[in-house]
Amino acid sequence: FRTIMEPFRIHSVEPIRMSTREERSACLEAAGFNLFRLRSEDVAIDLLTDSGTGAMSRDQWAGIQRGDESYAGSPSWFRFEAAVKHLFPYEHVIPTHQGRAAERILFSQIAGPGKTIPNNTHFDTTRANIEFTGATAVDLVIAEGRDPASEHPFKGNMDLAALELVLETADVPVVFMTVTNNAGGGQPVSLENLAGVRALCDRFGVPLFLDACRFAENAYFIKTREPGQAGREIEHIVREMASYADGMTMSAKKDPMANIGGWLALNDDELAERCRTMLILTGGFTTYGGLAGRDLEVIAQGLEEAVQEDYLRYRVRSTAYLADALAAAGVPVVRPTGGHAVFIDARALLPHIDPLEYPGHALAVALYREGGIRACEIGTVMFGRRPDGSEEAAPMDLVRLAIPRRTYTQAHFDYVAEVVAYVAAQAEELRGLEITHEPRQLRHFTAAFSPI
Ligand code: F0G
Repeated sequence: FRTIMEPFRIHSVEPIRMSTREERSACLEAAGFNLFRLRSEDVAIDLLTDSGTGAMSRDQWAGIQRGDESYAGSPSWFRFEAAVKHLFPYEHVIPTHQGRAAERILFSQIAGPGKTIPNNTHFDTTRANIEFTGATAVDLVIAEGRDPASEHPFKGNMDLAALELVLETADVPVVFMTVTNNAGGGQPVSLENLAGVRALCDRFGVPLFLDACRFAENAYFIKTREPGQAGREIEHIVREMASYADGMTMSAKKDPMANIGGWLALNDDELAERCRTMLILTGGFTTYGGLAGRDLEVIAQGLEEAVQEDYLRYRVRSTAYLADALAAAGVPVVRPTGGHAVFIDARALLPHIDPLEYPGHALAVALYREGGIRACEIGTVMFGRRPDGSEEAAPMDLVRLAIPRRTYTQAHFDYVAEVVAYVAAQAEELRGLEITHEPRQLRHFTAAFSPI
């Protein structure tokens, strides 16, 4: 049959509070027009992030009960470690409370002034953690990855020629690959490209790490888009992805469908020892890393569910369903559809708003005011402020409708499509915003705005 239905039934529900346009306008004023500063109860459909917001399965809730809270060497830790190594067979697994904690520990040991760390595209916290040490973060995604309309099947791929140039000219302690490439539209990386990056890293003697938050969605795209991969099991593809790298940072709040958690994994014994010391100093003992035993159980179970093909088929299809509905309404969306989110090209929809008056943010604010939908700008607000204090337009001004896993149904997506089409029909009436206050780093989380 044509219909790809949700491969689950719902066994506990959370109410959604409906609000009026007037109420939401007041909420926007009170929040300084920053959607991160809203109360989530004032949001009808929350597409701010797919991080930690997924619905847990019956078996994950059972894991909550089974969790063993022993300080050291708990069975929950061994279950977690085995589940991670089953997919990512690295020597050392270091649990952390989320992805950025793994980033901070790793970069505190290998980054620093004078170093350069390439990636296809660094996500916000990754870039900030690198820059915080004084190192430089560079994005080397292929040119198609910066073109919202390009139909290239692997728009997360690294530009190998650009990487070679950086490896020749800069002091590079590690190369990163983000799978899928979140900031670039949730776009996948091919096995062929990973192998190419690996070969360059070998030539220059530099380790390669994966930022693997959405590894399962990436593997599903490899299976469905890369020649010769259709007959393989997702698990096998994941292990091949892992085999090209020397380690990984991970947020368990994405594909593993946990509400909290992450890890750092690597093969280098000496570096692992230094990282474990940092973990004990700042996160917790090496067998829990700032997590409860029950969290470790949830992640172990979630990893099994994340690579199930029925689930991934539904997951990728439900994201594409929303994107197709928006495209049919004439809304410019990043093509082809990524795994975890639909990205609207706000710069194309709102050409009358200068990038430095934040077209993405203007659109996100309008989606909330008109329909109670909370989305996230991924553009000049998030990436426009440079470390030297200057401001410039980001490569793209996107609005991300991130889809929490197993949380919303088809009727919710129909509602979202209707609201976006309604706002898009009045696009020329939208106005930009100015920033009235911002912190020195990561301004998008806490800045205050005022409409122009
Ligand atoms: N790397 C990528 C590619 C991410 O998308 C995120 C988080 C992180 C690292 C950091 O992980 O949140 O567990 O510390 N992205 C979320 C998002 C927050 O909304 O895309 P974390």
